[in-house]
Amino acid sequence: MSMPLPRPMKRWLKHTLSVARGAGAPYGKLPWAVRDFESTYDPASGGYRVGLDGHLGYASVELEVGRLWYALVRLLRPRVVLETGTHRGYSTCNLAAALRDLGQDGHVWTIDPIEHNHLWLGTDLVPRITFLKKTSDLAFESLKGKTFDLLVLDSDHHYSTIIEELRLFEPCLKVGGHILMHDSLYFDGVGAAVKQLGDDPRFEMVTLDTPRTSGEPARRPPGVTIVRKAAAGPAVVPNPALYNWHVGDPWQTPLLRGGAGNGQDIHVPPAM
Ligand SMILES: C[S@@+](CC[C@H](N)C(=O)[O-])C[C@H]1O[C@@H](n2cnc3c(N)ncnc32)[C@H](O)[C@@H]1O
Repeated sequence: MSMPLPRPMKRWLKHTLSVARGAGAPYGKLPWAVRDFESTYDPASGGYRVGLDGHLGYASVELEVGRLWYALVRLLRPRVVLETGTHRGYSTCNLAAALRDLGQDGHVWTIDPIEHNHLWLGTDLVPRITFLKKTSDLAFESLKGKTFDLLVLDSDHHYSTIIEELRLFEPCLKVGGHILMHDSLYFDGVGAAVKQLGDDPRFEMVTLDTPRTSGEPARRPPGVTIVRKAAAGPAVVPNPALYNWHVGDPWQTPLLRGGAGNGQDIHVPPAM
């Protein structure tokens, strides 16, 4: 005859079994393939070891930024997320894992003209992600009619690309929704677009340092900007005078940080 277990013992057993099965998993659980990718991260440089020679690559956001994207999705609870610039999908996996862990029907639409051996393939994140193999401007047609809770912009960092993404997709972002941008301190193309949003009272924002140390000293680190859309209004108007802007002068302080790098501030031509 078996003895009934006391209630606290039953609770403890249930909890231990669920942890052993991986359920009730610790905050921020990512699929094995993503953790394997993270194991190539070099915290000193903020790059990833790639290739047989283990050289450093900087295509994906820093691990700390990937985990920040995860945390922000848990915090802000978006349901429909749009990402530009998928690459291997390290950032995509963090966004999708957070949507999964929220336990609601969230989805990430991610856009890139190049398909790079995505980290989510073969994982439980597959149903959460739709990949569009297009440039962001062309993908806009396929997404017409959708509204988004979160935009994550990390594609080509020319001003012309980022401002076009904002012109097309920001009107589809709900009021109270957010925009996450990587490389806003390093790349003046992104910095100029962020400055434009900052001059518009419809948006609230903060720019933060990130750990990566690549590039000329004056241009470190790449940075992230977190934007909140406080009100609806007319779409951003591109400034053609900035169309060629990408990385600024490596020896000058990046535009968005302001101040003088080698004694000269970067002049932002006024919108025409
Ligand atoms: C910095 S990587 C993105 C990294 C990714 N967010 C991550 O953290 O794993 C930039 C990507 O943007 C893509 N890209 C370049 N131009 C684009 C465009 N016009 N629209 C969408 N993606 C673009 C590139 O092919 C590249 O894979």
